[in-house]
Amino acid sequence: MRQSSEKYSKHYNHIIFDEAMRKLYEGSNFFNVGYWKDVQPVSIPNLNAACEALVTAHIDLDVARQDVSGGILDIGCGLGVTSKMFADAYPNARVTGVNFSAEQVAFASEQYPDLNFIQKDASRLDLPSDSVERIFCVEAAFHFNTRMDFLREAFRIVKSGGRLIFSDVLYTRSIYGIPKENTGLSLEEFIDQIRDIGWEIETNLDITEDTGAPYLDLLCESGFERAGRTWIKLLEHYLLLSLVKP
Ligand SMILES: C[S@@+](CC[C@H](N)C(=O)[O-])C[C@H]1O[C@@H](n2cnc3c(N)ncnc32)[C@H](O)[C@@H]1O
Repeated sequence: MRQSSEKYSKHYNHIIFDEAMRKLYEGSNFFNVGYWKDVQPVSIPNLNAACEALVTAHIDLDVARQDVSGGILDIGCGLGVTSKMFADAYPNARVTGVNFSAEQVAFASEQYPDLNFIQKDASRLDLPSDSVERIFCVEAAFHFNTRMDFLREAFRIVKSGGRLIFSDVLYTRSIYGIPKENTGLSLEEFIDQIRDIGWEIETNLDITEDTGAPYLDLLCESGFERAGRTWIKLLEHYLLLSLVKP
């Protein structure tokens, strides 16, 4: 892995394994802002249900789920629970969780020993072309250096007719851990860039209202108000997308 990627993965470990963060997520192994549309009230005890609902929303976008019997990648798999949900939703497929952090991969492998986890940088996956049927990526692509390299890499690896289903955030400007190449894009520019790679856009939902705003309330409730207010000012769109490789 490149040095900057290694340095950033260590920094990410500090956040994801932080005691206060683990407490916020009640040891559930999720690490996303949650999808609160059908999860009420917005409260810390409901965070795990909202995180689960976010992953379910990705699965629900897959209109051809029953046909999948090959490989599935879960990129930016965090502590492994998202991969577990994909494995349960696709019982005939082989799910592999991918993370640039060796520590997170080790943790996930211990928690979910029946699943496969590998350490790789999302922008340089170095896996065979046309080799998997689905790629999922839950709330991680804005971190990748760069997101466009990842979207191109995903296009190469997915088989024709396969899908990339992911949630992603458009930020107005860069902060540590979000490369500047991934920021400052309008929604239209982002969509054009995706199409230029060759992807067909099957679904494009803006779920900002039910993700960022409720999560800010939680951060305020749990002592992270300052960080939360800085973060929300930069968040322009929280998107959920399904892309098809023709
Ligand atoms: C916001 S967390 C989401 C985790 C998980 N998908 C979930 O929803 O619980 C982002 C994840 O992306 C991973 N990540 C960040 N940059 C990465 C990269 N360049 N390659 C692979 N994984 C990366 C982080 O280590 C972290 O696990």
